[in-house]
Amino acid sequence: MIAKLLCAAWVAAVLGLAADQATLDRGQKEERTVCLPCHSLRLIHSQRLSRATWSKELDKMGGWGIKYTDREALLEFLVANYGDDKPAVPDGMSLDGTKKK
Ligand code: HEC
Repeated sequence: MIAKLLCAAWVAAVLGLAADQATLDRGQKEERTVCLPCHSLRLIHSQRLSRATWSKELDKMGGWGIKYTDREALLEFLVANYGDDKPAVPDGMSLDGTKKK
């Protein structure tokens, strides 16, 4: 029983890590639509959070009236790019999260 549960958790983790590109693209689009009205992407992209913490963050932001149309894809996008396994943000990023020229 335990082995079965562990196996299911492992499969879920692998599937979670392997979010396909189409999902990530939808997540990025969702981010632009729902997150940008209030603050810059830098505030988001400078974070390095676990999946659970990103999910909490989405709930927290959601509490301020966000209507998600694709929350799952957004979560995948955030975990894939700004997970706690990613290196810290390089210096000199501009406010939209891209490199300064
Ligand atoms: C309704 C306005 C609003 C929207 C929309 C919004 N945020 Fe925020 N966000 C805030 C405010 C205000 C803060 C600063 C809150 C604080 O200091 O606790 C913040 C802070 C943050 C932080 C910094 C950590 C924290 O909790 O303070 C992150 C990360 C973040 N937002 C992510 C997002 C993401 C991702 C989205 C899109 C899903 C989003 N926000 C959409 C208002 C918003």
